[in-house]
Amino acid sequence: MKNDPVVAIVGVTGAVGAEFIATMDRRNVRVGRLKALASARSAGKTLSFRGQTITIEELNERSFEGVDIALFSAGSGISKKFAPIAVRSGAVVVDNSSAFRMDPNVPLVIPEINANRIRDHKGIIANPNCAAITALVPLWPIHQTNRIKRVIIATYQAASGAGAAAMDELVQSTRASLNGQVYTPQVMPHPYAFNLFSHNTTIDPETGYNDEETKVIKETRKIFEDDRIAIGVTCVRVPVLRAHCEAITFECEKPISEHDVRRILATAPGVRIVDDREKNYFPMPVDASGQDDVLVGRIRKDLSDPSGHSIAMFVAADQLLKGAALNAVQIAELLPERAMA
Ligand SMILES: NC(=O)c1ccc[n+]([C@@H]2O[C@H](COP(=O)([O-])OP(=O)(O)OC[C@H]3O[C@@H](n4cnc5c(N)ncnc54)[C@H](OP(=O)(O)O)[C@@H]3O)[C@@H](O)[C@H]2O)c1
Repeated sequence: MKNDPVVAIVGVTGAVGAEFIATMDRRNVRVGRLKALASARSAGKTLSFRGQTITIEELNERSFEGVDIALFSAGSGISKKFAPIAVRSGAVVVDNSSAFRMDPNVPLVIPEINANRIRDHKGIIANPNCAAITALVPLWPIHQTNRIKRVIIATYQAASGAGAAAMDELVQSTRASLNGQVYTPQVMPHPYAFNLFSHNTTIDPETGYNDEETKVIKETRKIFEDDRIAIGVTCVRVPVLRAHCEAITFECEKPISEHDVRRILATAPGVRIVDDREKNYFPMPVDASGQDDVLVGRIRKDLSDPSGHSIAMFVAADQLLKGAALNAVQIAELLPERAMA
């Protein structure tokens, strides 16, 4: 319709970009016109959206004229340069990169947790890190009922978290390995086929924590608005194409039972319990892929804490959806002045 928002997607050819298109279509969001933006490499190629053929344009400083909502997913360098330009052109930006997440003037939003922060935006709203979103969607309703004092997270992160090229590298290197051929890694720092390795982000030489881990720690405190929550994180890349898993152990202020956690999570938005001990059926990437919910299972007492304040669980979520495109589209739908929903 004429007054429906003009939506630009920056990074439309990427792993997240493709999910923006699919998610907007699936959720039937109102889009007056779609602008598909990527690098010069993709300019002139076409994609299909709701039966229309759309030509991909090279991102430039004039790309945002007439744009109401700009969904960014092309890396933090692009966001730092072009998001302010988009805002000056009158667009509201929902940014998937880490560029603005810790900026005190930028809301960092998971709609199931802090949708109320959207109204504070000054043009840019940040989408949190995908490993953070995966943990926080189920932890938040527990934290609200019985404050979480401390949480320990170990991640099992899929190739797609590092983009389309990393997915391709996992496929190619696995194929080469099965054929007995040598494959030299191009995207990841280590062999990916039949291997796993510490997350491929820069490590702080002082703390020993990599950037991904630091993001989870800092972003959790910002989103929960709780600087006291103690967090330990180990982020690992595993040879899975899509959907992150996380082993999460948390300690609450008051005693908590697995029954309490199940009861809280049974009605929590964005959460689905998958916890069948009899069948040994718990959250898996293959089941989380393509799903909006964070799957939660293996909910059990943490036996290392005899005081009964701690619970262990295992989660899986499609980080291209809830960890990226879906969360961003949910935010855009809630922009009161842009009428996308
Ligand atoms: N993957 C995830 O699960 C995930 C989750 C949360 C957040 N994010 C964030 O989302 C962003 C994109 O991730 P991705 O996984 O979709 O990466 P990707 O598959 O590598 O895609 C990158 C996209 O950026 C575009 N791009 C690169 N350089 C550009 C330039 N100079 N001008 C315009 N566009 C340019 C690419 O266009 P061309 O095809 O033309 O090169 C492509 O569309 C990153 O900031 C990432 O941290 C990703």
